[in-house]
Amino acid sequence: MRVGILTGGGDCPGLNAVIRAVVRKGVMHYGDQVIGFMEGWRGVFENKTMELDMDAISGILPRGGTILRTSRTNPAKREGGLQTCLENLRVNRVDALIAIGGDDTMSIAQRMYELGGNVVGVPKTIDNDLMGTDFCFGFDTAVNTATEAIDRVHTTAEAHQRVIVVEVMGRGSGWIAMYSGIAGGADVILIPELPFNIEEVAERIRLRHARGRYFSIVVVAEGAKFAADGAEVVTAVSKDEFGHARLGGIGELLARELEHRTGLETRSVILGHIQRGGTPSAFDRVLASRYGIGAIDQVHKGIFGVMVALRGNDITTIPLVDAINKTRPVDPELVEVAMGLIDPIPDR
Ligand code: F6P
Repeated sequence: MRVGILTGGGDCPGLNAVIRAVVRKGVMHYGDQVIGFMEGWRGVFENKTMELDMDAISGILPRGGTILRTSRTNPAKREGGLQTCLENLRVNRVDALIAIGGDDTMSIAQRMYELGGNVVGVPKTIDNDLMGTDFCFGFDTAVNTATEAIDRVHTTAEAHQRVIVVEVMGRGSGWIAMYSGIAGGADVILIPELPFNIEEVAERIRLRHARGRYFSIVVVAEGAKFAADGAEVVTAVSKDEFGHARLGGIGELLARELEHRTGLETRSVILGHIQRGGTPSAFDRVLASRYGIGAIDQVHKGIFGVMVALRGNDITTIPLVDAINKTRPVDPELVEVAMGLIDPIPDR
């Protein structure tokens, strides 16, 4: 068979591990030819390809980013865009396409499938917020990076008796904030799912300091919202082709407000793309490899319109339609764990 593959949306550690798994199993076990479409859906729309043979994938397992590069191109926003994509698959004699991406990439994959394309999806996002799968690859690496940063911030916060706010990624869900916050022993964790009352956060910190602590760590997801206005904090008003604003800056706002309300010196750091770059963790390399093998196996079973998914410890599939247009919120049990690890605020 001729199998196409693309990586779309924000990059993520482990993308190359998926590509490598698809090519190795496809070429060595099924006798496939694999063709890469460059820069996400842009490569399918503009017919930009590269041959993915065994040489092309040699040495890429530990590499961050993606050898196919990526973009947030939305072909549905272009005149006849989806039809052009289907035509380019035909031109390249592609029997099946493996699309690796998040909600946006999967939504185009579903539309291509509805138009007759043989598409299998692979879930990717450091935000870990795709529906239908327990974990996306890349998340574990991002959490490890964020946790290491929180550990480092801890020692300097302690030395200077400061409050430090660490802003992590997480647009609609606070998975990175919650995992790295628990792993890094944060005193306050703020996530998009639960808009926060600024006075309550200030009160938590005041109480902690009244009990003899002389520093505090706050972890905030970029998509967290002040309950007072419920709006996200954005760094740019323009939106990408899927309608997303560029988030960022809540950490700094929060730091200023906390300093004002508590009288404690407060600083902030934004981890930003540091969380997305670099070599994938061992867990992510294994998960990405499992997804890649799962995807090429589905192609050879002739099962399309699905996304491979992790449920418990098993790789399975779910219909693409069940994965899109929703955001998977943080598990409430994790919120309970985080709350159990900090002082309750006494009734006033
Ligand atoms: O991939 C998801 C994500 O990392 C979000 O957490 C973040 O808001 C967004 O990507 C940033 O994307 P970009 O690098 O395109 O600005």
